[in-house]
Amino acid sequence: MSDLPFPPGFLWGAATSAHQVEGGNTRNDWWRFELVPGAIRGGEKSGEACGHYARFDADFALAAADGHNAHRLSFEWSRIEPRPGQFDAAEVAHYHDVLASLKRHGLTPIVTLHHFTNPLWLADEGGWEDRRVVDRFEAFVRFCAREYGGEVDWWCTVNEPEVFAFRGWSEGVWPPRVRDDSRALTVIAHQLEAHGRAYRVLHAEDRWDADGDGAAVRAGFAKHRPQLEALRAWHPLDRLVAHFERRVFNEAVDRAPVDGVIDLSIPGATRVRRVLPELAGAFDWYGLNYYTRWMVKAFADPSHVARPGAPRNDLDWEIFPDGFEQALRAAARSGKPVLVTENGVADAHDALRPRALLDFITAMHRAIAGGVPVLGYLHWSLLDNFEWSDGFHGRFGLYGVDFTDTARPRQRRTSAEVFARIARANAVTDAARAWGSGGTAARGA
Ligand code: FCB
Repeated sequence: MSDLPFPPGFLWGAATSAHQVEGGNTRNDWWRFELVPGAIRGGEKSGEACGHYARFDADFALAAADGHNAHRLSFEWSRIEPRPGQFDAAEVAHYHDVLASLKRHGLTPIVTLHHFTNPLWLADEGGWEDRRVVDRFEAFVRFCAREYGGEVDWWCTVNEPEVFAFRGWSEGVWPPRVRDDSRALTVIAHQLEAHGRAYRVLHAEDRWDADGDGAAVRAGFAKHRPQLEALRAWHPLDRLVAHFERRVFNEAVDRAPVDGVIDLSIPGATRVRRVLPELAGAFDWYGLNYYTRWMVKAFADPSHVARPGAPRNDLDWEIFPDGFEQALRAAARSGKPVLVTENGVADAHDALRPRALLDFITAMHRAIAGGVPVLGYLHWSLLDNFEWSDGFHGRFGLYGVDFTDTARPRQRRTSAEVFARIARANAVTDAARAWGSGGTAARGA
């Protein structure tokens, strides 16, 4: 088959978040949440996670050897600012070391400033429900822009405002364990507002063009964009619920940074409507996190299931590469280029991931060929890690981790090789396809 080349300068890398990989994050709300009996599957705790806080340099060496040229990570707010307005010099220095290591390994950093976790002090003053959070986050972002602007151009302000809000405040399965849709909408609105502020602050304060490409700041946020469809296509309630979920989850969040209008509503919840001029046009790229499609079943538990008979990953999420192409096209309607900030497969045995990786990346190529401007692809994840309330059950790594002893070498999976072949060639080639199609014979090619 012919090669499928990607545009010159395409970013290839993996994505991680601090709490999921670092270990030892004792000052945030997730650490406290993990102590609650029944909060995490199997009673697991993030604990030492991947030990990445100590081993980041060796981990980045693996990524670089695999041809990655970029890496998405997050700064752990609770480490940098353990008390309001007080910055921890040792932790600030730690992230300088991390950035220096990325640079040595030729990996462009893409830094997320909020990836689900909150300093304990912030959670205790009301967290993302309390309006003060917008100012608090702005101050943290200002600090980061001034401190790290010389090393970072690519900033991702917040990760998945809608997932963060729904899991914590509607489903109540993440901290702070609230079940109230109105409060969930307030949280989404605060995250979007905080994004708008952060975007302006980054552009005002980070004046340093770290990679010499002519832009000092390229900022956006990461949006989780699943397909949401009625499980029973004939059932009016499934269709109605899927419609409302698409509207609030995808359409309303997509709209906010385009025209500055936050308009969030779902039946039974208090509508939130705000017009924020500073939010209008406040993104340089659309950050797309894509995993799956959900079939919606009204008034059922669970209310979201995989399509019956579809291939699924270890967490029962449908593997649906065509949906990735659709999501990329939808993201491009924002009018901005798309950066794939996450895409991956939970697959402890790496049985489905090699093929899925090829299929996802081939779907992305179709989207690009169809006119979608895509800047890069960051695979979730470099390492198996702490998968929030699923504990260590969702294994998303190109590399496996021995969680009984994180000092042991990472286990390189076939998927890492498939990805390396694509990244090095900046193309899907037959050599990558041979490795991705499974089967040892094919892998000998
Ligand atoms: C996304 C999160 C990320 C990881 C993946 C599997 O929703 O942003 O932290 O948990 O899902």
